[in-house]
Amino acid sequence: MDRNLELIKKAEETHNLNKCEIVQLLQDDTYNEELFRAADRIRTEYVGDEVHLRGLIEFSNICKRNCLYCGLRASNSNVKRYRLEPDEIIELARKAVDYGYKTVVMQSGEDEYYTLDKMTYIIQEIKKLDIALTLSIGEKSFEDYKAYKEAGADRYLIRIETTDKKLYEDMDPGMSHEERIRCLKELRKLGYEVGSGCLVGLPGQTVESLADDIIFFKEIEADMIGIGPFIPNEDTPLKDAKGGDFITSLKVMAITRLLMPDINIPATTAMETLNKNGRMIALQSGANVVMPNVTEGEYRKLYALYPGKICTGDTPSHCRNCITGKIKAIGRAVSTSKGFRRQIEAL
Ligand code: 5AD
Ligand code: SF4
Ligand code: FES
Repeated sequence: MDRNLELIKKAEETHNLNKCEIVQLLQDDTYNEELFRAADRIRTEYVGDEVHLRGLIEFSNICKRNCLYCGLRASNSNVKRYRLEPDEIIELARKAVDYGYKTVVMQSGEDEYYTLDKMTYIIQEIKKLDIALTLSIGEKSFEDYKAYKEAGADRYLIRIETTDKKLYEDMDPGMSHEERIRCLKELRKLGYEVGSGCLVGLPGQTVESLADDIIFFKEIEADMIGIGPFIPNEDTPLKDAKGGDFITSLKVMAITRLLMPDINIPATTAMETLNKNGRMIALQSGANVVMPNVTEGEYRKLYALYPGKICTGDTPSHCRNCITGKIKAIGRAVSTSKGFRRQIEAL
C-alpha cells in the first residue's frame, strides 16, 4: 500500500503522527479524498452529526495592532471605523438568542475603549440570557482574563496564527510569540475552553511550519481549532502576496481532526470565500461548527479582515436560515445544545 494511505490509516487509528509524517501528507495530493473521508469518519465517531452554530458579533473594527495581513490594522486608513456601545452589543446577543443561537462569540480588534468595567457589564448581561459566551478580543493581562472568566465568559479564541516565531514576528510587528503563548497558557489555567488556530498560506510559510502548527495545537490541548486560508487584502502591505489555497487549508484542518478527534473545529468563513461551497465541504472533511455572522447593517462590510468576505450584504436572520438549510441538505442537524467540548451542561 502507498505510504500516504498507510499514514492516513495510522492517523485514524492512533491519532498520532510525527512531523515528518504530517509533512508527507501535506506534500502529496494523491490521496486527498481518502484523507478528507477519514477525517469525516472520525468527526462522526467522536463528535457526532450535530453542527454547533455560534453567532458572531463583530463589535468593533478598531485595532491598535498592525498585523501585516489584516485589513483592520491600525495603519489602514481606508477602512471606516466603528465600535458598538455595550448596550448595542447586548441587544445583538438578545437577537442571536431569538434566532436560536446557544453561543455568541464577541469578536473585535484590540480596542482599548472596552475597559474591564465595560466588558464585565457586557459579559454579565449576556450571561443572563442563558447562553455560552466566547470572547475573541486579543491579548490581555492575566487579571483581565480572570475577571472576564469570573464575570461568566466560557470560552476564548486566540489564534497562534503561525508557530514559526520568526514568521509570526515578521507578520505581526511589535508583537511577541512568547506573549501569544502566555495568553494561551493563562486562558487554559483559568478554565476557559480555549480556541486557537492558524492562517494557511502566509508569505514564506512552509509545509514543515504547517506541520509544526498542528503539533502545537495538540501540545496545548486546544478545545477548538480554526484554520483558514490567508487572503491578501488590497489595503495592507501584503496586497501582492499569493495567499493561501483552499485545498491546503482543508488538508491542515482534516489532519487536525484526525489527531484531535474530539475537539470543536469550525468550517471557517475564509474557506467559503475561496470556494462557494467551502463551509459544507469543510463540514464533510472534519469540521463540526459554523460561526454565522449576527452583526447588523453596514458593520458587516466594515469588519473587513480580508476581501470577498461572505454574507456582508445579508441579514442575521437570512444567514441563520441559509446555514440551517445547507446543514440539513448534507444530512446533518443543527445542535440545540451549547456545544461545549466536554459536555459541561450535562454535569
Ligand atoms: N485573511 C484571512 N484571515 C485573516 N485574519 C486576519 N486577516 C486575515 C486575512 N487577510 C484572521 C486572523 C485572525 C482572525 C480574526 O482573522 O487569523 O486571528
Ligand atoms: Fe488587529 Fe486582529 Fe487584525 Fe491583528 S488580526 S490587526 S490584532 S484585528
Ligand atoms: Fe450568510 Fe448563507 S450563511 S448568506
